[in-house]
Amino acid sequence: MLYKTDRIKWCLSISLGLSAFIFLNSFRFANTSNLLEMQRSQTDSIDVKVDSILKIMTLEEKVGQMNQYNGFWDVTGPSPKDGNAAKKYEDIKSGRVGSMLTVRGVDQVREVQKLVVEESRLGIPLLIGFDVIHGYKTLSPIPLAEAASWDIEAIKKSAAVAASEAAASGINWTFAPMVDISRDPRWGRVMEGAGEDPYLGSKIARARVEGFQGKNLNAVNTIAATAKHFAAYGFAEAGKEYNKADIGTVTLHNMVLPPFKAANQAGVSTFMTGFNEFNGIPVTGSEYLLRDLLKNKWGFQGFVISDWASIEEMVTHGYARDKADAANKAVKAGVDMDMESSSFLDELIGLIQAGAVREELIDDAVRRILKVKFLLGLFDDPYKYCDVERELQTIGSEENRKAVLDMAKKSIVLLKNENNLLPLKKNGQKIAVIGPLADDSNSVLGSWRIASEDSSGVSIVEGLKQYKGNELIFKKGADLITNKPTFINELEFNTTDKSGFEEALSAAKAADVVIMVLGEHGFQSGEGRSRTQLDLPGVQQDLMEEVFKVNKNCVLVLNNGRPLAIEWADKHIPSIVEAWHLGTETGNAVAQVLYGDYNPSGKLPMTFPRNVAQIPIYYNHRNTGRPVDPQPGENMVFWSHYSDIENAPLFPFGYGLSYTSFNYSNLNVEKESYTVNEEVQISVELSNTGDYNGKEVVQLYIRDLFAKIVRPVRELKGFQLVKLKKGESKIIKFSLTSEELGFYDQDGNFTVEPGEFEIFVGTDSNASLKTRFLLKE
Ligand code: NOJ
Repeated sequence: MLYKTDRIKWCLSISLGLSAFIFLNSFRFANTSNLLEMQRSQTDSIDVKVDSILKIMTLEEKVGQMNQYNGFWDVTGPSPKDGNAAKKYEDIKSGRVGSMLTVRGVDQVREVQKLVVEESRLGIPLLIGFDVIHGYKTLSPIPLAEAASWDIEAIKKSAAVAASEAAASGINWTFAPMVDISRDPRWGRVMEGAGEDPYLGSKIARARVEGFQGKNLNAVNTIAATAKHFAAYGFAEAGKEYNKADIGTVTLHNMVLPPFKAANQAGVSTFMTGFNEFNGIPVTGSEYLLRDLLKNKWGFQGFVISDWASIEEMVTHGYARDKADAANKAVKAGVDMDMESSSFLDELIGLIQAGAVREELIDDAVRRILKVKFLLGLFDDPYKYCDVERELQTIGSEENRKAVLDMAKKSIVLLKNENNLLPLKKNGQKIAVIGPLADDSNSVLGSWRIASEDSSGVSIVEGLKQYKGNELIFKKGADLITNKPTFINELEFNTTDKSGFEEALSAAKAADVVIMVLGEHGFQSGEGRSRTQLDLPGVQQDLMEEVFKVNKNCVLVLNNGRPLAIEWADKHIPSIVEAWHLGTETGNAVAQVLYGDYNPSGKLPMTFPRNVAQIPIYYNHRNTGRPVDPQPGENMVFWSHYSDIENAPLFPFGYGLSYTSFNYSNLNVEKESYTVNEEVQISVELSNTGDYNGKEVVQLYIRDLFAKIVRPVRELKGFQLVKLKKGESKIIKFSLTSEELGFYDQDGNFTVEPGEFEIFVGTDSNASLKTRFLLKE
């Protein structure tokens, strides 16, 4: 049995390499307790082990490590479920596969891992990758909703809960977080990101990476994370999925790249490329992005995986002549692993033999991949994530449900609350609940939830039923989706059927308060779900208007994966609650907020437009030369605006109300001027002036008034989540360093320029309290 001999060989070569390493380093650490140095030493020792394995690998085995196949059970891209199953099995057994994706559950994972471990010559364990996007089976809110919490610790915890469930189910690597900044709610994948702002996006990127990976990748409840999609995928032109991204270097460096950089600094294990092209070059073949920037300039130590078939798709783009050319361009650019296109597997050996690709490139890629496998502890025990007992205990545990409920409440944003219609009275009320999404326990789960059971969420009606003091009547009124909604189906949602209106209207008429649950189905956003209309789909707008005619005491609860254009609702409906798709505990979270057992504090991470034609609309835009509103009485047209709608959005970035009210005063900057090396000290007084205890996200924005490139009119550079009892006041302090005050210029170089800065502090990106300071050389 050849493979057994060879396995002994890699074990031996590792232990020899290691002994040498330990001997050489025993002096190095004698006098130092420097933790960083120690950590580096761990990686050094892994490097030694990796090299020992690399030495005994054949070229085919090396290329095999760079190949990832989809599993045999689910799909998340365009290929048949069991496509080429026989060949895949053969390839796994013969060491031509380094990783599988979308394999889940201890049994399935053990099955594929066993093929490699017991049958391939070297038995190098597989990485098991999976889209753990917002929870595994117990679902937290969609990522955009979590971003609305602005609660970095809670987001980190949410990722840790997701990791623990996925790891208990055999998975050791997630394709998350998606850190793509996007300004276009037509793009369905905004649900998967953290919104439009690079500062908030960077904090969240770091939190998610730390949450998934924990302090120790080797632990059985942590998994490797992926920063995706590198880069600019979120700037898909016209919000159309997979479209090209046409942005300049200033936007690339100041808006797109910061969250990726933050993920790298947090030690993310892998980066994923995208389907898009940027500046005429598919990012999967971009040497500038992958090799020059990510690997060389940023010093990224992990490995880069393509997106699903994006290597071969460079042929369709018209950037690669054929599959071989695509493999050549991708590997040279810096892609280390090929997801599901077999381009590396089929072409790299030929390219090396022909002298077109240097074997060192392959060695570098394999080194990076093996290193992640070592860090995860897979070489110690390939089945370490395959413990049935742990799987049973962890998934859906009470503790996990509590954690996602907490995250769900924190993610809700109160958009409007006229006459304090909310919170609802707890007794003696007749409440009508209306809308196609009100009793839907499936839609609430949101998009990207491949592992969770259908309809495993708590619907809003179910949540409201927990409050027994009121009489509750539910009438759907209309349907939203008319075919079976799944992650891979094209959805049908153009229903015109209004036959359910009548009974909904009579319920509304008889009620003290009406709660309308309207918006998008969970699968109406996500990958491949771009839309040109952002109003309420189907007959929901008509339903809302009819209901409002018979009862003005309406609360609109929105369910959606992206900003919607709801101008009519904002004009008429007294209370609006943004409840996104909040995951497994949606109904309980919404009910607790509607009844005032939880005071909402969420803030929008993306601007809500008045209508689709305003898009892209975002707060941190650069000024035109003609931005100023005309003076009253003037009737000039020569300024940057539309003739038929105001410039302001419906709800600005950072916006969100509370049941209590807050007042900001005494904004102070400690000195009038600072040098670039000093920290700028700012303080503001926040008072809770309302009738409830509450939380407020205090936001700080800057404006660099004059620079060598045009700077945004506002940029978020600090925020704090502050809890205040009613009547309480607090002084909140911020400090700014050159990191916050600098910017990337047109050549992508970071610059801190002396000059005047304005500071705004307040409740959203329209904050009006302002001060200024001078930055000197
Ligand atoms: C394609 C998506 O773009 C990517 O984000 C995802 O991780 C892969 N499919 C795998 O499902």
